[in-house]
Amino acid sequence: MISETEKAQFFILLKKLSESIGVSGHEFEVKNIIVEEISDVVDEIKTDSLGNIIALKKGKDNGPKVMISAHMDEIGLMITHIDKRGFLRFTSIGSWNERILPGQRVIIYTGKTKVRGVIGAKPPHLMTPEEKKQVLEMKKLFIDIGVESKEEAEKLGVKIGSIAVLDREMVRLGGTDKITGKAFDDRVGVATVIYTLKKLSNVNHEANVYAVFTVQEEIGLKGATVSAFAVKPDLGIAVDVTTANDVVEVDEKDWVTSLGKGPAIKIMDKGNISHPKLRELLIKIAEEEKIPYQLEVLVGGATDAAAIMLSREGVPVATISIPCRYIHSPIEVLDLKDVVYASKLLISFVKKVSTEYVKSLSQL
Ligand code: CO
Ligand code: ZN
Repeated sequence: MISETEKAQFFILLKKLSESIGVSGHEFEVKNIIVEEISDVVDEIKTDSLGNIIALKKGKDNGPKVMISAHMDEIGLMITHIDKRGFLRFTSIGSWNERILPGQRVIIYTGKTKVRGVIGAKPPHLMTPEEKKQVLEMKKLFIDIGVESKEEAEKLGVKIGSIAVLDREMVRLGGTDKITGKAFDDRVGVATVIYTLKKLSNVNHEANVYAVFTVQEEIGLKGATVSAFAVKPDLGIAVDVTTANDVVEVDEKDWVTSLGKGPAIKIMDKGNISHPKLRELLIKIAEEEKIPYQLEVLVGGATDAAAIMLSREGVPVATISIPCRYIHSPIEVLDLKDVVYASKLLISFVKKVSTEYVKSLSQL
């Protein structure tokens, strides 16, 4: 049901998105890729004052408004101090697992140039046995960019407030459909929405599709909050990653989702509960079209759907999740089949949304 071509198309698109820099509040590179990818297949594109991209693929006049949201930003680091020898201190943007930071290579984006560095720490042979057991706090870590003075660092363009991402190439694991890289949260959502828009370009649908690529999700759903207010959607779908804890060392009851079993239809997470009728339609489509799917109940985490839901007088929302291992690390892993299926589900969903259906959402 899925062709190699579809997987390959996703691979190429996602690689570009994953390897670009888009720390919250600095989504420029991702934005450029998106605009280039979708300008030919949508009717309108604009950006708002926060930097959200709002693209419209028109349906019928007065057709229902469907907002599909994926966030452009990724978690990252921000430089807070440069010492006289040119070592950099940093803080986190979004939530990092501090355990995985030491020993990583980083790319610092200065606004114009990209500077390579490594995250260093006190060498283990100088640590006391007690220290060796502890997680190194972020304030004990530093970035070494190879320079010997503050002036030299500044000459490279590095300054207080420069942002950094972990330096990571996206690759395929073995000969499998699994891929690994950084920022799949939520570039895979961005890729899914781009792909969906391309597939819809020759399709007539009643709904007016507002594809919104949001900013600053990782620091509190900022972009979705204001763009939902502007779009005034009749319903909203967020496309984001969810945890796949299907690894050794984790009990099966705690897996939430598994890789390769299809996209997850979210029942709830910490941010909100999906609208039951939206969930029902997504499940119905998946069953009818033989799209494998999983049901997801996540006790932590939230998506843009939580913000869209509370916009104006309330919006019915649901989330289509892509199962992903090791979220918020530079070695996120997902299965390309889940991504292709997620996009098939989204395409079919958009085609089914009618004025009648939207009316039914607010009926008991
Ligand atoms: Co995230
Ligand atoms: Zn996310």
